[in-house]
Amino acid sequence: MMERCLTSAEHSLGQTSCEYLARRFGTPLYVYDASRIREAYGSFASVFSHKPLEIHYAIVCNKNRYIVRLLRDLGAGIHANTPGDAYAALKAGVPSSSIVYSGTNLDAADFDFLLKNGLRVNLDSLDQLRDLAARRHGTECGLRFLIDADQGGNRIGVTSLELPEALKIARNSGMRLSGLHMYAGTNTCNPRRFLECFDRLAKASDLLPDLEYLDLGGGFGVAYREQSEPLDLNAFGKAISERMAGLCQRRGRGVRLILEPGGTLVAAAGSLLMTVVSVKERGGRRFVGVDSTVGNIVVESVYHPYHRIEPACPRGRPMDIGTDICGNTTHAKDFLGRGIRLPEVRPGDLLRLGDVGAYGYAMSSHFLNRPRPAEVVVDGEEVHLTTRRETFEDLIATQLSV
Ligand SMILES: Cc1ncc(COP(=O)(O)O)c(C=O)c1O
Repeated sequence: MMERCLTSAEHSLGQTSCEYLARRFGTPLYVYDASRIREAYGSFASVFSHKPLEIHYAIVCNKNRYIVRLLRDLGAGIHANTPGDAYAALKAGVPSSSIVYSGTNLDAADFDFLLKNGLRVNLDSLDQLRDLAARRHGTECGLRFLIDADQGGNRIGVTSLELPEALKIARNSGMRLSGLHMYAGTNTCNPRRFLECFDRLAKASDLLPDLEYLDLGGGFGVAYREQSEPLDLNAFGKAISERMAGLCQRRGRGVRLILEPGGTLVAAAGSLLMTVVSVKERGGRRFVGVDSTVGNIVVESVYHPYHRIEPACPRGRPMDIGTDICGNTTHAKDFLGRGIRLPEVRPGDLLRLGDVGAYGYAMSSHFLNRPRPAEVVVDGEEVHLTTRRETFEDLIATQLSV
């Protein structure tokens, strides 16, 4: 649903547009800036000189249909972790040929879904490979690879020692093992970690005669904290492209590079707008109450990394008093930020929680029984309401009358 056009002063997601959006759609409100996603995609894609290259947006971090289509139009495929991820992508108009599924612990219904929709898949264990082999003959699939030492506690993937058995299972059922997949871990900012994992992956891939692709997964680090550094994408892209070139030369043919970025494409584009409803000061501390909650956005106090918080319209310089941003429930952990420095704030002011484009709305829930916020995408001078605000009815919609 498209709303009225913004003036150019409003559309930069600055002070005016936050106020305009809050007035128009209410708060709490997720707002995504499409131009930042386009920019992030462009920079990400440009650092990998290796060809062929496939970039599959990890829809797990934000399945907003407008964003999925925007990235599809830029040339991205989709990475799915679950059948629900794939379903959301298909419903957004992404063809199954552009979806890569790298999942774990699939049951019979999951396999049926993947096969019915013709999805490419990277499997996580020999048992899962046997399951697929029993259902599908004469095609190909990839395997997720354990990139850490066996004793390290990492549960993902098969080991090098298991690859010969995997090849046997595949051969006996007329399948080809055409790729290896890795996942270095979420929000990895150290390029050395990726490169060491890649080297192990590349070495293991020597065992696969039918190798067509290496899939490096996602987890490319985002700088959530003011002083933190994101993964140096330029250096990373160059190093990986050089390694891929070496690998192709060794094998005497091209090998496709697949990447599954999530947060690095969309995190910085998202904000959660909240309205201040109450301010208290006591014991040298300030408690700012807002109209949102950790049910709307999973933050540090419950699970998630720290998120920057700032007023949409700052009233001068930060005050010399620690401030907690308190959610609108009595849950002991309902803090959207703790001990932060903010300027004076008053009831009615807007606060903007930054970098919530990834794992923000996606991890919101009905916990604490506050309906989930609406989502809007600001694209140039247009504003699109992409997800309606929930109602109390939504909170009980799946309950049957008993
Ligand atoms: C296999 C795989 N690829 C990609 C991603 C996206 O990770 P990120 O958003 O950290 O880039 C995930 C996230 O869970 C994942 O499990």
